[in-house]
Amino acid sequence: MTSSADSALAHDLLVLAERAARAAGDLIRDERPDRLGVSATKTSPTDVVTVMDERSEALLRDLLLRERPDDGLLGEEGGGRAGSTGITWVVDPIDGTVNYLYGLPAYAVSVAAVTGDVRGGDWDVLAGCVHNPASGETFTAARGGGAFLDGRPLRVSDVSDPAQALVATGFGYEAERRRRQAEVVAAVLPQVRDIRRLGSAAIDLCQVACGRVDAYFERGLQPWDMAAGTLVAREAGAIVSGLAGAAPGEQFVLAAGPSLHAALEQILAPLRPDADAV
Ligand code: IPD
Ligand code: CA
Repeated sequence: MTSSADSALAHDLLVLAERAARAAGDLIRDERPDRLGVSATKTSPTDVVTVMDERSEALLRDLLLRERPDDGLLGEEGGGRAGSTGITWVVDPIDGTVNYLYGLPAYAVSVAAVTGDVRGGDWDVLAGCVHNPASGETFTAARGGGAFLDGRPLRVSDVSDPAQALVATGFGYEAERRRRQAEVVAAVLPQVRDIRRLGSAAIDLCQVACGRVDAYFERGLQPWDMAAGTLVAREAGAIVSGLAGAAPGEQFVLAAGPSLHAALEQILAPLRPDADAV
């Protein structure tokens, strides 16, 4: 495939990703019940699913596969299927579910079109959209085409000194993992400007892209948490990786502009933030 055919495909996929993310965003914002309950739990009692996660994922699956019936799909709430085109839609119907449950306005729908082996960790994102229906903000990126917030081009911050860096992070749902994550944060906090825990990995990565935070790190992310946001951050100039040049994935993700990324990796690596026990 030529590169202009590649970018035309990425553009078309982005148009569809944004349409789907906005439709699901309207649904979760407009039809959120006043008394929203937890309909199930996943990895721990704090890892919740609401009826709106399920409805949002059903909407995304129906819309995306109606338009592109031969693509694959991987969704947080179990909506998986293999496709035959080489493209898989990786969707998080509500990223920031706990914020959504409490009515805090930091949640998003994340929709990405990827190629490669998503479960095996060897994949590339062609197009991605992170839409926060509570703030109305929409982050978009197509590979090689830059990153945008509501149509405005994005660039990561130029902070390179960790002491001046505002650093976002997040925590998993399992108690033992959180204990370790808290140890890592305790060691990092005195060395940076401050720490933020926004509650949505997709939004965290987009905040790196637009310089509202300087960096973000987390262990335990799943493909749906990070697919679209990773492309938005990279297209805005961030390095998004694991430790020691590893691909970003469940083991660890660090996102920042190039020189801050290198400096933070020096602080983080000895703390073994990619391990549950040391
Ligand atoms: C979670 C959020 C959170 C992050 C967790 C994710 P969910 O996704 O992105 O910020 O710290 O690791 O699991 O459960 O809200 O879709
Ligand atoms: Ca998520």
